[in-house]
Amino acid sequence: MIKVFSGIRPSGKLHLGNYLGAIKNWVELQNEADQVIFMIADYHAITTPYDPKTYQQQIMDVVLDYLAAGVNPDKALLIRQSKVPQHTELAWIFNTISPIGWLDRLPTYKEKQDQIEESANPKAASWKNNMGILDYPVLMAADILIYKSNLIPVGNEQLKHLDVTNEIAKKFNYLFGEIFESTKPHLTEGAHILSLQDPKRKMSKTGDEGIALSDSPDEIIKKIKKAVTDSSKEIIFNTDSKPAVSNLITIYHLLSGQKIKKIEEMYEGKSYVEFKSDLAEVVVEFLKPFQEKYQELQKTPDYTTSVLTKSEEKAKVLANSTLKEVKEKMGLE
Ligand code: AMP
Ligand code: TRP
Repeated sequence: MIKVFSGIRPSGKLHLGNYLGAIKNWVELQNEADQVIFMIADYHAITTPYDPKTYQQQIMDVVLDYLAAGVNPDKALLIRQSKVPQHTELAWIFNTISPIGWLDRLPTYKEKQDQIEESANPKAASWKNNMGILDYPVLMAADILIYKSNLIPVGNEQLKHLDVTNEIAKKFNYLFGEIFESTKPHLTEGAHILSLQDPKRKMSKTGDEGIALSDSPDEIIKKIKKAVTDSSKEIIFNTDSKPAVSNLITIYHLLSGQKIKKIEEMYEGKSYVEFKSDLAEVVVEFLKPFQEKYQELQKTPDYTTSVLTKSEEKAKVLANSTLKEVKEKMGLE
């Protein structure tokens, strides 16, 4: 049985990196798997500074992003993490068998601390060193294992978290008896889209170095025009010597379906200006149907809410069954 699970933090508008590194996979996998659950990680996202006043809106924006990008509620459950409290209950249980040493050495732990340092939120300092960022991967393990999921479409910076998930599963099985099988990541070539302003960093939800799925054609054209390029003028794919241009070629390739070799041929002897203007067109065209669907969905908020609540009811049934098994094995029941 293939059981797919994934989640995204509602920490801002989804961008092309999210789409190519995560959601595109999800949409493909939902047709092939036996159980599919996609989650808005609203409990994960409060581990870094956020604004409670706009948070509900932000969560609903991400739900619409998912649906507009092709997540099909007939095939997948679409849930909010905080509405299925069994996740946090299992996380507490997992806490008791997760050594701190598995968590504080993860690069993402340091990165999240830096994010807090750099946050523009006026109260950001109050999030410093909170337990939640240390515990982040344990909650993630609970998200995955509560549904006995085994295939996890994510970007490659999440791989270490999946290792922790597997360690926790193994340790639970060893201590209390076999319940959990191991999980596998599902990666694709879009798994690492870089920032348009600094190709040493991945495209993220902050700043204007990313292209949001909801950006208007004008914004897209402007951002691509401003994207940094590498020193020599050729439009060739080489991630070592030409990381910025290679990133743009990757985006072109993944959105248009053209082979990378073909793109290099098409732009041999041509300028960055020409290449960028065509790339902007590719991105605008690609996003058009997404944006139309998004606008349609905005008109039917009741539909969106009913997709969520129906999914969450079904998820609770699955989650309760695992939690019962866990508690029985542990002598809690
Ligand atoms: P985040 O936006 O960090 O919550 O990530 C949500 C999902 O999108 C995760 O599966 C990430 O691995 C993926 N993702 C985020 N940024 C990128 C990127 N620049 N390139 C590819 N995948 C990404
Ligand atoms: N940690 C993931 C991120 O930052 C989001 C996430 C939470 C997730 N729980 C998950 C991803 C479970 C996959 C499976 O993007």
